[in-house]
Amino acid sequence: MFNRLVIRLVCALGCAVALSAPALAADPIVIKFSHVVADNTPKGQGARMFQKLVEERLGDRVKVEVYPSSSLYGDGKEMEALLLGDVQMLAPSLAKFDKYSKGIQLFDLPFLFDNIAAVDRFQHSAAGQGLLESMQDNGILGLAYWHNGMKQLSANKPLREPRDARGLKFRVQASNVLEAQFKELNAVPRKMSFSEVYQGLQTGVVNGQENTWSNIYSQKMHEVQDYITASDHGIIDYMVITNAKFWRGLPDDVRTQLETILAEVTDQVNEQARAMNAHDRQRIADAGTSEIIELTPEQRADWREAMRPVWQQFEDEIGADLIEAAEQANASGQ
Ligand code: LMR
Repeated sequence: MFNRLVIRLVCALGCAVALSAPALAADPIVIKFSHVVADNTPKGQGARMFQKLVEERLGDRVKVEVYPSSSLYGDGKEMEALLLGDVQMLAPSLAKFDKYSKGIQLFDLPFLFDNIAAVDRFQHSAAGQGLLESMQDNGILGLAYWHNGMKQLSANKPLREPRDARGLKFRVQASNVLEAQFKELNAVPRKMSFSEVYQGLQTGVVNGQENTWSNIYSQKMHEVQDYITASDHGIIDYMVITNAKFWRGLPDDVRTQLETILAEVTDQVNEQARAMNAHDRQRIADAGTSEIIELTPEQRADWREAMRPVWQQFEDEIGADLIEAAEQANASGQ
């Protein structure tokens, strides 16, 4: 009888300890940060820097897990995963938000920004900052903009004049503006996930694509494209986003520290992106697998003129005021 009592007591104590153990050593908050590019790109580096600084400063309370190269979720699925709470942070290209915010399509307009410095000025303006909050109704909160760089055109034939693109199949990101841009050239746009681009180019499913030097190099696209035109005709930048409910539910001090870290990382990414792209352009040239075509000012003007009708087409969706704010960002740098 006594023995049985002891056994029950021990059991009860054991259970109580077992139940309270996780509460005593609080599990760290896990932030899964998923993205589609390689580690050796501006965004890839940014995600790693964020992970490292969080580990150093908040290691016992927050753990950041980085999943590069579509290893957890690729395009198409990652936004859904964020909304379902399966990941907590993403940094999609600004071309991938048109389901959630028509205004963000602004960044896809061809030849809108003169250079990344102008993009930076716009992103810091009230209009740019406003777009970070334009998806709150969908439960998405923009935390920061990260730069990648200017887009270049690549193909399996030389593209010097807009008519050279006629009839070619181009991979585009999931963006209606970019689709329209290639239609203006009488080319055939095809929306495709980033992880499928290399194979698409290699097998001839598409003949060309547009991307930054760092994405072209890190995906080895230059090995399956004979020509790259240094067109600088648009941009690829990112919005670092989170699930609004998750972010607001964080302890105040943790959220504040994460925001401080993110601001530091953003400065670093944006400072390094230009150099990374310049470096990767050089590496592509050194590889010698594709010819880099420089445009004359006249040829570049022809591309601009050929693509420009897209502005009119999307002006109502995007908003003329936003387009004007972007043009002001160009002007204020002159
Ligand atoms: C692309 O799909 O080409 C880019 O958006 C990839 C990226 O995230 O830079």
